Amino acid sequence: MMLVLQLGRSLWWLLVSLLASTAAARSRPNFIYIIADDQDYATANPTVMPHLHHHLAQHGTNYTRFYTPMSVCCPSRVGFLRSQHGHSHNVTNVVLPFGGWTRFVAQGYRKDWLPSWLQAAGYATYYTGKLMNGNTVQNWASSPVQGFNRSSLLLDPYTYVYYNASFAVDNEKLVSYPNNYSTDVVRDFGLEYLEQAASSGQPFFVGIAPIGPHAQTANGVFSDPVPAHRHRHLFADEIAPRKASFNPAAASGASYIRDIARLNDTVVDYLDGWYRNRLRALQAVDELVDAVVRKAEHLGVLDNTYIIYTSDNSYTVGEHRRQPGKTTGYEEDIRVPLVVRGPGLAADARNDGVHSNIDLGATIAHAAQAEPSYDLDGRVMDWAAPAAKREAGTATHHLSEFWVSQVGGAVEGKYASLGGKVLSKYRTLRIKEGAQHDYAYTLWCTGERELYDMNVDSVQMDNLLANLTLYSPLNSSVSDAQKLASRLDGLLLNLKACQGSLCRRLWANLFPEGEVTSLQEALDDKWHAYFDALPRVHFDNCRDGYFPAEELPVWRNELVYVNQSLIAA
Ligand SMILES: *[C@@H]1O[C@H](CO)[C@@H](O)[C@H](O)[C@H]1NC(C)=O
Ligand SMILES: *[C@@H]1O[C@H](CO)[C@@H](O)[C@H](O)[C@H]1NC(C)=O
Ligand SMILES: *[C@@H]1O[C@H](CO)[C@@H](O)[C@H](O)[C@H]1NC(C)=O
Ligand SMILES: *[C@@H]1O[C@H](CO)[C@@H](O)[C@H](O)[C@H]1NC(C)=O
Ligand SMILES: *[C@@H]1O[C@H](CO)[C@@H](O)[C@H](O)[C@H]1NC(C)=O
Ligand SMILES: *[C@@H]1O[C@H](CO)[C@@H](O)[C@H](O)[C@H]1NC(C)=O
Ligand SMILES: *[C@@H]1O[C@H](CO)[C@@H](O)[C@H](O)[C@H]1NC(C)=O
Ligand SMILES: *[C@@H]1O[C@H](CO)[C@@H](O)[C@H](O)[C@H]1NC(C)=O
Ligand SMILES: *[C@@H]1O[C@H](CO)[C@@H](O)[C@H](O)[C@H]1NC(C)=O
Repeated sequence: MMLVLQLGRSLWWLLVSLLASTAAARSRPNFIYIIADDQDYATANPTVMPHLHHHLAQHGTNYTRFYTPMSVCCPSRVGFLRSQHGHSHNVTNVVLPFGGWTRFVAQGYRKDWLPSWLQAAGYATYYTGKLMNGNTVQNWASSPVQGFNRSSLLLDPYTYVYYNASFAVDNEKLVSYPNNYSTDVVRDFGLEYLEQAASSGQPFFVGIAPIGPHAQTANGVFSDPVPAHRHRHLFADEIAPRKASFNPAAASGASYIRDIARLNDTVVDYLDGWYRNRLRALQAVDELVDAVVRKAEHLGVLDNTYIIYTSDNSYTVGEHRRQPGKTTGYEEDIRVPLVVRGPGLAADARNDGVHSNIDLGATIAHAAQAEPSYDLDGRVMDWAAPAAKREAGTATHHLSEFWVSQVGGAVEGKYASLGGKVLSKYRTLRIKEGAQHDYAYTLWCTGERELYDMNVDSVQMDNLLANLTLYSPLNSSVSDAQKLASRLDGLLLNLKACQGSLCRRLWANLFPEGEVTSLQEALDDKWHAYFDALPRVHFDNCRDGYFPAEELPVWRNELVYVNQSLIAA
């Protein structure tokens, strides 16, 4: 009798906990992650992308200060998939020796990234389109992707060939579509996965990564993005926006852009044509968004699914006299669209907090109750959990980094040779605090510094540190610009090699006792001596790759602020 009772009890408990765990699994949200390629922030607007605006922005939240941690495809995507800064994952380029899929695998990441965490947490995972650079027609079988239940990955050298998309399908076969438009094929794979996911009985993640509006790239030549035939006549009267930074009469900024000559009308016409083709290539991406949202609605999963729309990095067409491309820390290269709808997100809302692509990986992992094997650099965004709302208060800063001196596609198109030297090693800190403070601070590997007050100079034409000598010390008593720079350089020194929770905090790393909790407080005169005495961020050289020993000094604990009178007492 006793035995039967005990047995009954444990069976009962087993049943209860089984039910509870399946209920928990069922109530966990799904994710549809749509990532465009090289789309800048400004083109994600209601005119160019009406479906994105209607389905996602009007039913969700539009993040207006969302940034890429490295302004080039593969390093940014790895940043998302590992929720880490470039200096943490160290996949810093699109090609070997420092980047691409082979480097990603060599770092041991193929078994330890968002899809594998999600699968371990009970999710069914799917991915179609561009994963990262270096998935090729040669290596897809010998170096297969892991972590996805189904996958169809675009393969180099055909990744950016709009009419011959070539995929590794489920690591089993290579399929190419010479007569179909790449974005449409990716859409169709995505819709198929969505159907399977919805009937899988598991919560799911579906990644959909079209190449639009990336440049068409064949045989190493970058040319205009190719629109779908049905869109090629649209936007006939559009020209690249004539911001104050578009092909300006006066050169400014760091030597990287200051040395670029002003463009003549022939070249400007060419840039306008390129820009139009970007808008046209985005039409199929917008249709994809429409098809995906309708399918999710039809399948009855819309209410418990986060639909996320973003891009890997941003893009310039003519700003600062530049040729089409990315890779710098200027706003036109690092600011990307992010629009999210789903459970708990307000409709038709806007969020001006500063967020990074690495935060998105952390947020999805958190909302899925997945368990990464290490402390993520990224912050959990406010939509994922009530507890995360506290951390959202710290959504004031972003770090962009770069360590590439040779990169295919840094400067694209027929006039690439006008685009300046390909020297690109820098760190950029973006910080926005309330309405008052909004700055972009950059240190280049040349020792040049740039500081822009984004509230009055959002196009970054007036470098407040233009007259400093290379790597000069900073003296807060000399000017407001140096006062600001001494604070921002101190924060950068702290963040530039941060890992895990240290990356998610800002002021507490410098002031563990809480004497300073904001930029506003840090600007007080009484902190001049502390900030001016900090060692300054430095690069020994501009060579390719991230070598920490060539970027000393690095932050050390002895640099925190210590109140000397407390020690004396
Ligand atoms: C997001 O908000 C910004 C700023 O208001 C706006 O310019 C942009 O068009 C919005 N994006 C969408 C997709 O509605
Ligand atoms: C299309 O891609 C396949 C590889 O998937 C390749 O063998 C073929 O030559 C390509 N066709 C064209 C016209 O480039
Ligand atoms: C490719 O295009 C053909 C002809 O329009 C169409 O029948 C087919 O469904 C398309 N395939 C994919 C995968 O989009
Ligand atoms: C997805 O893959 C995981 C790991 O192999 C497996 O446990 C799960 O059953 C799969 N789900 C579906 C829907 O195929
Ligand atoms: C404009 O500049 C381009 C690139 O330097 C050059 O090839 C072209 O001849 C110039 N056109 C005119 C009209 O000067
Ligand atoms: C830099 O020096 C030039 C020439 O003396 C001066 O006109 C300019 O205002 C200075 N710029 C800044 C940001 O201090
Ligand atoms: C900073 O500038 C002030 C005012 O010009 C000067 O008195 C002071 O000596 C400078 N400090 C350093 C460390 O150079
Ligand atoms: C990044 O990779 C380079 C080259 O493999 C290596 O020398 C360097 O130590 C790595 N950096 C970190 C922080 O691991
Ligand atoms: C340092 O501590 C003393 C004694 O508590 C206090 O009066 C002083 O304000 C503190 N200084 C700073 C800069 O916080």
